[in-house]
Amino acid sequence: MNNTYTDLVQQTFDFPQHDFDVKDNYLRFNGVDIKRLIDKYGTPFKLTYLPKIGDQVAKAKKMFNDAIKKHRYDGNYYYCYCTKSSHFSFIVEETLKQNVHIETSFAYDIEIIKQLYKRRKITKDTFVICNGFKTKAYTKNISQLINSGFKNVIPVLDNKNEFEDYKKSIRAKDPVKIGIRIASEEEPTFDFYTSRLGIRIRDVLEFYVDKIKGNNRFQLKMLHFFMNKGIKDDIYYWSELNKVVNLYCQLKKICPELDGLNIGGGFPIKHSLAFDYDYNYMVNEIISNIRNVCKKNKVPVPDIYTEFGSFTVGESGAVIYSVLDEKMQNDREIWYMIDSSFITTLPDTWGIGEKFLLLPINKWDKEYQEVHLGGLTCDSHDFYTSEEHINAVFLPKLEKDKKTEPLYIGFFHTGAYQDQLAGYGGIKHCMIPSPKHVVIERNKDGELEDWLYAKEQTPQSMLKILGYIR
Ligand SMILES: Cc1ncc(COP(=O)(O)O)c(C=O)c1O
Repeated sequence: MNNTYTDLVQQTFDFPQHDFDVKDNYLRFNGVDIKRLIDKYGTPFKLTYLPKIGDQVAKAKKMFNDAIKKHRYDGNYYYCYCTKSSHFSFIVEETLKQNVHIETSFAYDIEIIKQLYKRRKITKDTFVICNGFKTKAYTKNISQLINSGFKNVIPVLDNKNEFEDYKKSIRAKDPVKIGIRIASEEEPTFDFYTSRLGIRIRDVLEFYVDKIKGNNRFQLKMLHFFMNKGIKDDIYYWSELNKVVNLYCQLKKICPELDGLNIGGGFPIKHSLAFDYDYNYMVNEIISNIRNVCKKNKVPVPDIYTEFGSFTVGESGAVIYSVLDEKMQNDREIWYMIDSSFITTLPDTWGIGEKFLLLPINKWDKEYQEVHLGGLTCDSHDFYTSEEHINAVFLPKLEKDKKTEPLYIGFFHTGAYQDQLAGYGGIKHCMIPSPKHVVIERNKDGELEDWLYAKEQTPQSMLKILGYIR
């Protein structure tokens, strides 16, 4: 037989790859025998392979530090972990083993910082980069952190008003470091031109001169930008980076304290065995571009900060399902029904059409066919029908004999954002809590009455699920 699933993979990709190989027709993920886990725990289940996180952090640090050396770049590199990609305590603590710094997105994140400090996982010297549009609760929590002696908390101003809050509530003796997020221009294919987050680039210089310069309680330390489409080798990315570095140079001439450039997150991860992204090339281009612009402007280069989320944690995750049965709904479309739902376990698949790396766990020696994958909810969008590299899904054929093993499949590199979006156990994207719930009903006299069914979700309720408190 030369049309087995193994043949298909070997004809299409370089295989095996360092994180995937097949032994006795069973797939292994980073050397882990997934069938053994299926036998032990049953499907469906989520899997986190923690060692990958440390590998990814070490890989990025090495690439940036090598590029810094190669280009004689006179600045440092700081790896910050973007907590929103996965807030679980065991994930964040794994990143901290690599001496990373932290980026936060919402008021409740600061509760995580406090817990990490209590557990001695971070110190008061750890950089805590506070991003996002700030609510009053968030600016208050940030101010408290600074007032309690955290030396490297950097609130990144998302808008001009935010600064007023810090002026009122921060009482630190030493000057407080702040950053400014520059609203980036998106690609023409995006739904809007300019990001809603950050301050318009043309307003930044004036804002600095009017509001920050001369205030000896605050120092502008960092410029920040982040492109929704990520770090890509295209004209849009290089042009945005160039604009931001030029602004850095202009500001540096009047603001000597400014010494950081935060290029956000956005390193892609492998969503197909055909993935081919030259991380080293991109890092070298970033470093040499920044150095060249600074050299032309005769200003010292900035330290570089990144906030990789998907890159840190994405490739550590997987979700494993069984195929329950096969349904033929017309002459061409064969559905494999999985024992869970894409909507509830991989929400990006239907929300933004994200593709993840899909592979069978067993039956690599069987013939393959094109199939549609269907989830158990009644939602018409609960399906998965195409892959990153091809507009179709191919999987081994099922065996008619019910006594044989079912087909098991895995979606890999699913470790970032999926749990937060799906609300796993009650957590939320960026930890934005469930709002209060007000119910209105008619009383027995026919009048409308309202009552509070639920209060706003507390940080404690999420911290418990995330493993920070009992
Ligand atoms: C400000 C900021 N930094 C970092 C990230 C992480 O991006 P990624 O997961 O693509 O690395 C995001 C994602 O939305 C972000 O908004």
